[in-house]
Amino acid sequence: MTTSLFSHVPAYGGDPILSLMETFQNDPRANKVSLSIGIYFDEEGRLPVLESVRQAETAGLQAIGPRPYLPMEGAAAYRDAVQKLVFGAGHEAVRSGRIATIQSLGGSGALKVGADFLKRYFDGAEVWVSDPTWENHTALFEGAGFKVHAYPYYDHATGGLRFDEMLACLKALPARGIVLLHASCHNPTGVDLTPGQWRQIIPVIAERGLIPFVDMAYQGFGDGLDEDAFAVRALADAGVQFLVANSFSKNFSLYGERCGGLHVVCADAPTADTVLGQLKATVRRNYSSPPTHGEAIITRVLTDPALRALWQQELAAMRARIKSMREALHRGLGEHFGGTRDFGYLLTQRGMFSYTGLSEVQVNALRDAHAVYLVRSGRMCMSGLSTRNVAYVAQAMAKVLK
Ligand code: LMR
Repeated sequence: MTTSLFSHVPAYGGDPILSLMETFQNDPRANKVSLSIGIYFDEEGRLPVLESVRQAETAGLQAIGPRPYLPMEGAAAYRDAVQKLVFGAGHEAVRSGRIATIQSLGGSGALKVGADFLKRYFDGAEVWVSDPTWENHTALFEGAGFKVHAYPYYDHATGGLRFDEMLACLKALPARGIVLLHASCHNPTGVDLTPGQWRQIIPVIAERGLIPFVDMAYQGFGDGLDEDAFAVRALADAGVQFLVANSFSKNFSLYGERCGGLHVVCADAPTADTVLGQLKATVRRNYSSPPTHGEAIITRVLTDPALRALWQQELAAMRARIKSMREALHRGLGEHFGGTRDFGYLLTQRGMFSYTGLSEVQVNALRDAHAVYLVRSGRMCMSGLSTRNVAYVAQAMAKVLK
């Protein structure tokens, strides 16, 4: 008998989002509805292939050639285009060269490289994430060796923001505290800060000497590409030095290509060069260099004016469809409850996600009795709704809520 070398390794409890996706795929019920994972589905329930992506990819295939390793920091044209998309082409921080940008493996890859970089150079620092936040934020920063705390964010009583408490908490954080902020389309609640609230938060961040790490995974899904980048640009305007992780999984519908960017906004260009060097070293220690396929498609779309205009139209259509589904579900629930319950949060929240306030018991009942899948926190992904299933979902929700 061989004794197992790995007998002390515990079984994986599963990821609250990705494992649920597997359960959904294995569910034989024909009427099942996936409102769990943050993926945009179209009106037919399909994962769309954007026309701008199709055209860029077809053009790329005709020019297929050798595939050397990309540099550790990624392709130069991609990094340039992504930086301009995130900060705005004319932004002073872009023009002065004080942002170190690397191509990343999606938003998660950017968070991981950024977390490793921060751990090495701010070893004693601790991390604060919103209460609640995307489950993987905590796992990822803990995995990089940080102690992770929460700052007040979502108000269960009103479905809004605990803004005063959030501000008070930030005012009391130690200098060099790392604060994970969501640029827009907050995951999981859908509750965002207004520009006015950002204007109150930013001076506190600057005065306290905090290190913001902004996660922007949904640029273009809230109010628009520029509108959703408001916080990022306002932080840069204010001279704050900070990190940004951005993702193209959702806004290009290129989930499996793992494309994103990590940006470190520095005081000046020479510091950005030095930081870029250490980001390269961090990449080399993790996965050496990023892959070529997805970045080539995205670079082509972002740098070709016609393809870019087409992509922006397609993104606007995805955004509009999500808004119309918010309205449809709001109407549907309104009919079941006849004004006895307020579902206004569906209309004020932004982006793909909505925090429904459903308890874990209610979420389980929705799944078991009605084949409607939400994340156990009560988060609903609005883009899984369509005109075909929204009435069914409203009815199922009404049954578990009544
Ligand atoms: C989500 O929150 O559902 C997405 O960001 C997908 C993921 O990786 O969790």
